[in-house]
Amino acid sequence: MLPTFSLQNHTILLTGAAGLFGRGLAASLAEAGATLIIASRNADKLQAVADEETARRHKVFAEGFDQGDEASIIALKARLEERFGPLHGLVNNSVLRPMKGAQGTVEQWEDSMRVNATGLMLMHRHFGSSMAEAGRGSIVNIGSIQGMIGPSYELYAGTTMGDMPPDYFFHKGGMLNLTRFYAALYGPKSVRVNCLSPGGFFNNQPELFVQRFSEHTMLGRMADENDLGGALIFLLSNASVYITGVNLPVDGGYTAK
Ligand SMILES: NC(=O)c1ccc[n+]([C@@H]2O[C@H](COP(=O)([O-])OP(=O)(O)OC[C@H]3O[C@@H](n4cnc5c(N)ncnc54)[C@H](O)[C@@H]3O)[C@@H](O)[C@H]2O)c1
Repeated sequence: MLPTFSLQNHTILLTGAAGLFGRGLAASLAEAGATLIIASRNADKLQAVADEETARRHKVFAEGFDQGDEASIIALKARLEERFGPLHGLVNNSVLRPMKGAQGTVEQWEDSMRVNATGLMLMHRHFGSSMAEAGRGSIVNIGSIQGMIGPSYELYAGTTMGDMPPDYFFHKGGMLNLTRFYAALYGPKSVRVNCLSPGGFFNNQPELFVQRFSEHTMLGRMADENDLGGALIFLLSNASVYITGVNLPVDGGYTAK
């Protein structure tokens, strides 16, 4: 059974790999044997990640692209397919956070939708169609507990945090059903589409918030960079070959109570 979890001979694109969760995900996928392409707008920052992973004898390559620009998505796909052939896996991890609170501007909302809604759909359209032609593939969308439930304002009382942006709750919620849409569309071609919904990542937030958030989970803590990799490897690998259209919360039990 164990070899089915391996990502050897899997070419995988991970977006947003220099971010908070992305760096840990890049390390996990590379360690599982993937030929990994990491891509976001800042290719220089990503090259540093690729160099670190290459020094550990992993196969990691950095590419620049803008998920808010269809031409850039198509160009990335052309470059990758010329070099590696159709991908085996795609992880939609990038997120743009232009809206800073409930009163954010319409322009910020529209910037968010360009990347997080339209761009996300185009990633499925362009990369998913090549996987469908190849007759195999796995797409994993990184969602959030904030796509499953509304804001818990009480966690933030007495801190400087807590003015949450509506766009995030909208596009992370939409991601769940977009996952089911593409799972149904590409299922007949053996392309699977699933979602992982992490809980809050510990990032030196105010102590009061960390304590309240941790108590709200069943495992008593926030997420760290090691928490998502196992579930992601599982969904990308052949070990999950009969799983599609699901949302798997990786949240220490936060949304289960
Ligand atoms: N941080 C958390 O607590 C948390 C909790 C639950 C879910 N998540 C989800 O996990 C994923 C990663 O979150 P994070 O906190 O590591 O994010 P982050 O903000 O640290 O990183 C986001 C990445 O997306 C990239 N990006 C932004 N706009 C882009 C564009 N137009 N084109 C290409 N790339 C672009 C950025 O360059 C960056 O590398 C996101 O989908 C997020 O919603 C995060």
